[in-house]
Amino acid sequence: MSKAIETQLIKVANVDEIPNQVGKEVIIDNLEIAIFRLSSGKFKAVENKCPHKQGPLSEGIVSGEFVFCPLHDWKIDLTSGDVQKPDDGCVRTYHVEVRNNEVFIKI
Ligand code: FES
Repeated sequence: MSKAIETQLIKVANVDEIPNQVGKEVIIDNLEIAIFRLSSGKFKAVENKCPHKQGPLSEGIVSGEFVFCPLHDWKIDLTSGDVQKPDDGCVRTYHVEVRNNEVFIKI
């Protein structure tokens, strides 16, 4: 039996509240999400917990489309959520939409 999955867009910030290449933590219910504005102007959102030892990715260093975990420097692709080799793992990613200068995350 198939089951419909309900999704919703939740406003998390205005565009100008998210500086370039600096992460911001947002909490939706009990989900901790790290949102980033890349130098390209794109927005990305991932679970705010590194798969290694739960480091807060919103405090990591952003480079291109990747974030480096602030604790032990694992490199994580902000589009796929994949940890880059030689390390291994992944984080959940979230779709981000910008409408009328407001940033929404699809949950
Ligand atoms: S907690 Fe992220 S690299 Fe160790």
